[in-house]
Amino acid sequence: MLEVQDRTDDRIAELEQQLKAMQLQLLQAQKMSSVGALAASITHEFNNILTTVINYAKMGIRHKDAATRDKAFDKIMAAGQRACKITTGMLSYARHHGDRREPMELTPLVEDVLVLVEKDLQRFRIKLVTQYESRPWASVNSGQVQQVLMNLIVNARQAMESGGTLTVVVRTNPEGTHAEISVRDTGGGIPADKLRRIFEPFFTTKTLDPQGQGGTGLGLSLARDVMESHGGRIRVDSAIGTGTTFTLKFPLVQPATLPVAPIQKVG
Ligand SMILES: Nc1ncnc2c1ncn2[C@@H]1O[C@H](COP(=O)(O)OP(=O)(O)O)[C@@H](O)[C@H]1O
Ligand SMILES: [Mg+2]
Repeated sequence: MLEVQDRTDDRIAELEQQLKAMQLQLLQAQKMSSVGALAASITHEFNNILTTVINYAKMGIRHKDAATRDKAFDKIMAAGQRACKITTGMLSYARHHGDRREPMELTPLVEDVLVLVEKDLQRFRIKLVTQYESRPWASVNSGQVQQVLMNLIVNARQAMESGGTLTVVVRTNPEGTHAEISVRDTGGGIPADKLRRIFEPFFTTKTLDPQGQGGTGLGLSLARDVMESHGGRIRVDSAIGTGTTFTLKFPLVQPATLPVAPIQKVG
């Protein structure tokens, strides 16, 4: 009898492990599909950057005076730096981070995601507003949190079909216990009967959009899983006709201080 119980326990442990592995794979697959969906607008932006570089290089070749050449170099430099920011953001987003967490500042993590979606938002006439009220740290898996943010931003964009404003706020809660990131849109809002179900896996009101995003109903259910595994929460506030705000809440950690190098005694 005891042996049967042992075998059942082993089997349950094995299944739990398999489930966890599959959840991680699902997360990664969902992330890669959003990278694919962004590829079109990012490639387009790269084209614009290259056009800038080529045109200013031509100008610098044609005009030998120092002032024109300085201007040309400045423009080429700025274009190169912008391109670099985008590739860095893309690499950091796409990299598989496993499920490790480490203390980090949340604002740079938010900025890396915004670099990737900026052009997409412009294309849909959505104004982006950022409010960094404080610079909180939390212990996070950066890839997973960026993915959650990406899902929230794509949802917000899809809720504002005829333009609007997307506001991203980073702050510390008034009690000083949690770091918060919120994503607010000026879309149509979510009716009460749907609001109850939005975190259910596969609950969706969409079909795949022309950019190939959304429609799986997995975004928010994955977001909730990720926030729970971070010891955090995801909250939604929505008002019909006004818009929707999603807030991610993480336990606050102290900023990491750089390790001080031990003083070396010479001689
Ligand atoms: N910002 C938002 N505004 C309005 N509705 C939203 C918003 N975010 C999510 N929803 C609703 O929640 C549903 C589930 O979202 P999600 O889990 O991301 O799946 P999907 O985007 O694939 O539909 C959406 O289909 C939509 O009805
Ligand atoms: Mg979604």
